[in-house]
Amino acid sequence: MSQQIDHLMNEDRRFPPSEEFAANAVASPDLYKAASADRLGFWADQARSLLTWHTPFSEVLDWSNPPFAKWFADGELNVAYNCLDRHVEEGNGDRVAFHFEGEPGDTRTITYAELTEEVKRAANALSELGIGRGDRVAVYLPMIPEAVVSLLAVARLGAIHSVVFGGFSADSLRSRIDDAGAKLVITADGGYRKGRASALKPAVDQALSDRGDGVQATVENVLVVRRTGQDVDWSDERDLWWHDVVPQASADHTAEAFPAENPLFILYTSGTTGRPKGILHTSGGYLAQAAFTHRNVFDLHPESDVYWCTADIGWITGHSYAVYGPLANGATQVLYEGTPEHPEPGRWWDIIEKYGVTIFYTAPTAVRGFMKQGRQIPQKRDLSSIRLLGSVGEPINPEAWMWFREVIGGGKTPIVDTWWQTETGAIMISALPGITTAKPGSAQVPLPGIAIEVVDEKGEAVGNDAGGLLVATEPWPSMLRGIWGDPDRFVETYWRMFQDKGFYFAGDGARRDEDGDIWLLGRVDDVMNVSGHRLSTAEIESALVAHEATAEAAVVGASDETTGQAVVAFVILKESFLREHTPEGLAQALRAWVGEQIGPIARPRDVYIVGELPKTRSGKIMRRLLRDVAEGREVGDTTTLADTAVMSTISSQVK
Ligand code: PRX
Repeated sequence: MSQQIDHLMNEDRRFPPSEEFAANAVASPDLYKAASADRLGFWADQARSLLTWHTPFSEVLDWSNPPFAKWFADGELNVAYNCLDRHVEEGNGDRVAFHFEGEPGDTRTITYAELTEEVKRAANALSELGIGRGDRVAVYLPMIPEAVVSLLAVARLGAIHSVVFGGFSADSLRSRIDDAGAKLVITADGGYRKGRASALKPAVDQALSDRGDGVQATVENVLVVRRTGQDVDWSDERDLWWHDVVPQASADHTAEAFPAENPLFILYTSGTTGRPKGILHTSGGYLAQAAFTHRNVFDLHPESDVYWCTADIGWITGHSYAVYGPLANGATQVLYEGTPEHPEPGRWWDIIEKYGVTIFYTAPTAVRGFMKQGRQIPQKRDLSSIRLLGSVGEPINPEAWMWFREVIGGGKTPIVDTWWQTETGAIMISALPGITTAKPGSAQVPLPGIAIEVVDEKGEAVGNDAGGLLVATEPWPSMLRGIWGDPDRFVETYWRMFQDKGFYFAGDGARRDEDGDIWLLGRVDDVMNVSGHRLSTAEIESALVAHEATAEAAVVGASDETTGQAVVAFVILKESFLREHTPEGLAQALRAWVGEQIGPIARPRDVYIVGELPKTRSGKIMRRLLRDVAEGREVGDTTTLADTAVMSTISSQVK
């Protein structure tokens, strides 16, 4: 079957950077020139100028055993030193590292000097517990400062963290602990979510309990942060309170240098199906690309900006853009514990106003959620401090992009739509603010030093104005180094498809437009085939979201006797429209609208108006489950859903 994906939508709005923005921009067009003249030399320069090396490297890339890369391999550094001590030594100890805001409204301001001291104490406490180089530590915490401290303390010791998102169940936690062979778990009694104290410790107890399968958990200790004060069960020989060991530990701790390829963390990603994969990242290359991208993509001026990435620390975005990239660059950040809706829907905008956030990085799912609630809510707050917006996680539909810029960005801010993955470790495709003329909905251009192509199934570049598969054609510094304990699966999953060419296959469909800019079209597994045309989910969803009544949409291909597959759409309407129209009338209007916007080929056979869409805990739509509904099947495995009740609601709405 051809891998060509048909192109349906045209977008001709353009937003060049303002002169003022361009004049003060961190990134300069020279970056592209330098990187294309000498790619490896470019990365060596970035790694040298952005990081402090205990032992300088002489070798940039070792690609002698592909796909197992080594970057800067004979160099040595300490990741935590780079994120902390050196800023204090350079006289920036008083700079705020985090403005922490708990969901109940408690706050903490933490300077670089304070964070450094706390991490040194935590590192001493962890070494007392026997944690050293190469040991694995599972972190299962809410979004509180101790989460950041834990990651950095583990990194400081040359140990490996494996963060498990606090919304995962005891079973998921246990399987990740077992796979990594974790020796220590760092958790909390609970955290605040939606106005309630939500317990975490019981899930750890359950995960570590004897499950009658003869497998003994590898965990020796559980370190527990007191956050909510709720009652917890306690095992005297295993459990310790953070407040009993960390504040008492010495604040003297010298950061030891580790080789650049020392593992830094494992992060499990479920993908759409199958057993979770423990994505392995190492130190020097990862930190270099995280720091470079954070500085240039977000136009970071560390002395004046207040940067806020809303991602939870349990996801790669939280690792690279709420911990390592920003801290390596000495940024001031906001860290918020809770949900956007508590105590009322404007909480995020209140936080932006309160701290004067200048750079705001979030996900399209959040933007579409705000569109659903209406622009009145953000418009009640003063968001004028914002000067740059970022998006990650899914394609951002052009209409959502426009809303984001107009309503949140005051009609003036650049938006960077950043494409990357847990596996890539850091941003790969994005506009550079101050340089690139923005196109709503397009991730646009590979970053300097990054080699990306859109290819057909033979690995040949499709050229401009054509669709295909997104690949990385050259290794990059923050690339995954493997899947923990499973090198064969690493090769099979990412490198087998274009084995002859040595390309990394990302699993996404993409298109280059007539200018060569890249548009992401969704996961290749979700592409639909209607009457022999391969249609992307992203474009039809964007057409639906472009209708004034729609807040969010998901489309899937359902088998159809005449067309092979037919387009079936699930649509969430804006609240104001639901009050004034019938769902039946709107469904008809939306079918006709897509027909006009794109053409009859894309007109949905069915449009279902629903209240929710099935999403993973990181906010991605799970189209596989919607396909089950659209084809009248029993709904498949829902364990990775954020809210498992959603599918029964949707099934009954569809009936
Ligand atoms: O399908 C792409 C989508 O998210 C996938 C990676 O997911 P994850 O590993 O959870 O990392 C998310 C945060 C980096 C990609 O394969 N994706 C991510 N960013 C974008 C995107 N799709 C379109 N546009 C983006 N900007």
